Amino acid sequence: MKKVILITGGAGFIGSHVVRRFVNKYPDYLIVNADKLTYAGNLENLSDVDKKDNYFFEKIDIVDKQSVLNLFRKYNFDGVIHLAAESHVDRSITGPDEFVYTNIVGTVNLLSAALESWKNNFEGKLFYHISTDEVFGSLGKEGFFTETTSYDPKSPYSASKASSDHLVRAFNHTFGIPALISNCSNNYGPNQFPEKLIPLAINNIKNNKPIPVYGKGENIRDWLYVEDHASAIDTIFHRGKSGETYNIGGNNEWKNIDLIKLLCSIMDNRLNRPDGESEKLITYVKDRPGHDLRYAIDSSKLQNEFGWSPIPDFAEGLGKTVDWYLTNTIWLESILSGDYSKYYDLMYSGR
Ligand code: NAD
Ligand code: DAU
Repeated sequence: MKKVILITGGAGFIGSHVVRRFVNKYPDYLIVNADKLTYAGNLENLSDVDKKDNYFFEKIDIVDKQSVLNLFRKYNFDGVIHLAAESHVDRSITGPDEFVYTNIVGTVNLLSAALESWKNNFEGKLFYHISTDEVFGSLGKEGFFTETTSYDPKSPYSASKASSDHLVRAFNHTFGIPALISNCSNNYGPNQFPEKLIPLAINNIKNNKPIPVYGKGENIRDWLYVEDHASAIDTIFHRGKSGETYNIGGNNEWKNIDLIKLLCSIMDNRLNRPDGESEKLITYVKDRPGHDLRYAIDSSKLQNEFGWSPIPDFAEGLGKTVDWYLTNTIWLESILSGDYSKYYDLMYSGR
């Protein structure tokens, strides 16, 4: 085995694509996926790779310091790719505590364990923290987030991610632990939990339910296909420099309402509905409190230094995503039949 790598949150949306990529592409690496399996973690996401010899799963809550220390003592990790997090902004508004525990305490537990394990020799070690563009706050109509944009998080979620970014930099600066960070824009694609805009809308259109658009639908997000994020993570893990930050984005800004209309037309096509039929489901609902207006990433550093660029155009990526959700009905139904229906009622009734 050339490297032993810990991937946290590997049963989640992005984590499962990163685990799959690393397990398949690097058969000489041992990949350890550590995940608590919260409502967002689903081992079904990895059913195509979980029998491979170079893959191990550990059910671990990163908030539990002793479990994290034990994990590092069990495996002699060379690298960490840290994705485990509470990730949904709306949930951080109704219940911020879990975001503080997992995103901040969990990250410091991992950093402390890595430091204990690596302190005598940092050579060949790397702690790679996966973060979000939301730490930069909200843009007006102009401009882009760059690696030097000041932090200005606005939601409990983004504030917890910003704290974790600061802790990673502090451990790098104070203790010399080799570490780097990437901040990415909105991901979409297969396996995303249907609380997030795109899979939620796909599911509602399929079932002829209202599509809840917050406020006037004018907010703008920069969408990136999840496999492009996984390829950027692969590139940065292998070629990025300790102490650096890399922005990852799709260069693909969409107003929410325009994105929903595009999705409706793709769904009309796939479901053999007359043109314009699914758009009738669009329903404007009460806005998200403190709703950030616009995110847009300048990823030229990553593109110029390493030649990374996103692959599918948006209509193609969205089409692939729709087809995945329409095909993987058992995956979707098993989520919808669980606690998620209670969450949906709580979040959307009376909105
Ligand atoms: P997700 O919610 O789909 O998955 C999170 C995973 O973390 C789940 O498998 C969950 O079980 C696990 N987890 C949660 N709490 C844990 C704990 N205490 N201990 C161990 N495991 C725990 O999230 P995602 O959308 O895949 O995001 C992954 C990472 O990427 C997050 O750090 C997020 O902030 C970041 N990110 C996400 C996006 C996006 O658009 N989804 C964009 C940029 C950055
Ligand atoms: O920018 C990166 C971030 O993108 C990640 O760090 C987060 O983990 C991820 O969840 C995502 O955050 P957003 O809040 O942008 O994603 P979400 O899918 O929740 O919402 C996208 C946009 O759609 C946002 O402007 C809110 C709006 N929205 C969302 C939902 C769930 C609606 O209009 N209706 C909805 O029902």
